[in-house]
Amino acid sequence: MSSRIREQLLSLLLEQGDAFTSGEEISRRLQCSRTAIWKQIEELRKEGYQVEARPKKGYRLVHRPDRVAPEELKPHLRSQRFGWSIQYHSQVLSTQLIAHDWARKGANEGSLVLTEEQTKGKGRMDRAWHSPPHSGIWMSLILRPTITLAQAPQLTLMAAVALTRALRRETGLDIRIKWPNDLLINGRKFCGILTETRGEQDQVQYVVLGMGINVNTLEDFLPDELMKVATSLAIEGGRTYHRVTLIASILQSLEEFYDAYLKQGFEPVRILWEEYAETIGREVRTETSQGTIAGMAVGLDPSGALLIRHQDHLQPVYSADID
Ligand code: BTN
Repeated sequence: MSSRIREQLLSLLLEQGDAFTSGEEISRRLQCSRTAIWKQIEELRKEGYQVEARPKKGYRLVHRPDRVAPEELKPHLRSQRFGWSIQYHSQVLSTQLIAHDWARKGANEGSLVLTEEQTKGKGRMDRAWHSPPHSGIWMSLILRPTITLAQAPQLTLMAAVALTRALRRETGLDIRIKWPNDLLINGRKFCGILTETRGEQDQVQYVVLGMGINVNTLEDFLPDELMKVATSLAIEGGRTYHRVTLIASILQSLEEFYDAYLKQGFEPVRILWEEYAETIGREVRTETSQGTIAGMAVGLDPSGALLIRHQDHLQPVYSADID
């Protein structure tokens, strides 16, 4: 029997809350045999759902594992378009690879690839991205903006602002952006954004916006090399967070900022980025295609380049130039 029926069975059990539903009722509503239902209950149990079965009463759900599967996410979604079309996998190499493939085959804007674990998670500058099972949010969103390739880096800054807004609201933590798009708490990184753009001539065809968020990772589970520089929402907040609630909130915020960006341009994003940034007013040192630039970061220019005061002039630095 297909996983579609398993999804329907789970929705039905969720809908019933604490009440039991008889096998007969389930088989009538899902139009399949009671043996088939029993098999699917067994499958759900393997995924970590605890389904109580009582003679004469039927079934009810008593425990749900923390999964980011579509049937868990969809009841929380408040976005209009983002996240309604989902590819969910329990383990993948990288959600970016799957999203690119899907986009090439014509996936709609707002389509989302979600996974519990990545075995070859990709960071910026070809770095690896540590993505252990069930503890973080590893997802890639497909966008199809009608903008030029030169404008594409603005989307990365837009995403950093949208994620900061959503995660501040959900956690109350003092989240700051480090140029161009790392999210930090108390100076340590818990979230990275990887924007990969494909275009033709000078127009964007599609963008894959990859987001990696350490949510419930505990200190002991961070690899040694990341201990000093990385953190998670749970480490900073002293509690665990429901990943699905965070994803729904991020998608709503991303959709709002994205729509506003397409209508009103980059200026509203620029203002908020500066407000959330921890980079502004600090000495920074960056390697660009023109060599090393060191100086005080003073703000973003109207196109989204970081302005660095360097040898008595303001030098714009583009995110594509920076590690
Ligand atoms: C960074 O280097 O800061 C960016 C990290 C981006 C990681 C995310 S996790 C989901 C998506 N899939 C990947 O392989 N990478 C991005």
